[in-house]
Amino acid sequence: MADIQKVGVCGCGLMGSGIAQTAATAGCDVIVLEADRAALERGMAGIRKSLDKFVEKGAIDAPARDAILGRIRTTTDVGDLKDRDLVIEAVVENMAVKKELFAALDKLLAPHAIICSNTSSLCVVEMAAATKRPKHVAGLHFFNPVPLMKLVEIVKTIVTDQPTIDALFAFAKRLGKTPILAQDTPGFIVNRLLVPYLLYAIRMFEAGLASREDIDEGMKLGCGHPMGPLTLLDFVGLDTTYYIAQIMFDEFKDPLMAPPPLLKRMVLAGQFGRKSGRGFYEYK
Ligand code: 3HC
Repeated sequence: MADIQKVGVCGCGLMGSGIAQTAATAGCDVIVLEADRAALERGMAGIRKSLDKFVEKGAIDAPARDAILGRIRTTTDVGDLKDRDLVIEAVVENMAVKKELFAALDKLLAPHAIICSNTSSLCVVEMAAATKRPKHVAGLHFFNPVPLMKLVEIVKTIVTDQPTIDALFAFAKRLGKTPILAQDTPGFIVNRLLVPYLLYAIRMFEAGLASREDIDEGMKLGCGHPMGPLTLLDFVGLDTTYYIAQIMFDEFKDPLMAPPPLLKRMVLAGQFGRKSGRGFYEYK
């Protein structure tokens, strides 16, 4: 397959906006799709803020920032994605919504086009089965914050063909990322290891074995992690982690993947972490 130049991103939340920014920074022509204009504006404001940080740091200059922004167009009409070589879906983690979107994209896109999901835990082959091009469907899992995190997991389903995987490896490298190959199992590589670790930190806190600060300090200073587990949970979102843990537990029935009662209760109370102003810590 030829080089990926025209990229579509579905969803302009935290992940979608980061993916759009990163692709445009690498020189791709990007169109971002959202359900409504307000969501697009919120996402674009996040992109501007992130690019301004890069300008402040001297990583790029103001004309480069403007050129990157000029490579991102926004739309609320899925039909505008019809000429894309690659469409990356980063909408809500809901299989029915994703399948409907994959089916619509499949009808629209040229036969060579690849459709990817940024899902962190859902089954990619189930989305592929909603299309008539399952060979050209894969997972492309970015990490938060997308403009800074170097890793991309490329998820090969049992039907994805090798040219699709090769094209995605080349695309991830063009974005300045390091791609790794994962299988289509819940959590892929990173979350399969990370989620049980985060859940265990909650269990330790819940059992009163240590304070939240000492758990975080322990892993930061003892293991060189940039954030301790409870800070990272607040950063990723407690609701997101709860959701991923449930999917992983459903599949593997491994008690290490079972969401601890405290996590469930915090989510029920609306304590989602940074985004809601309160999680294990408080945010202004
Ligand atoms: N865009 C541009 N620049 C950004 C930015 C963004 N979105 N976010 C932060 N920065 C910049 C800051 O301006 C700062 O710049 P400076 O060094 O010039 O001052 C620099 O990055 C460092 O930021 P901070 O000082 O605010 O904080 P940190 O030093 O702690 O770095 C971090 C922030 C890079 C997020 C770091 O804490 C980190 O790597 N944390 C771990 C993140 C992680 O593990 N992510 C993966 C989560 S799991 C996941 O995403 C999978 C999903 O499926 C759940």
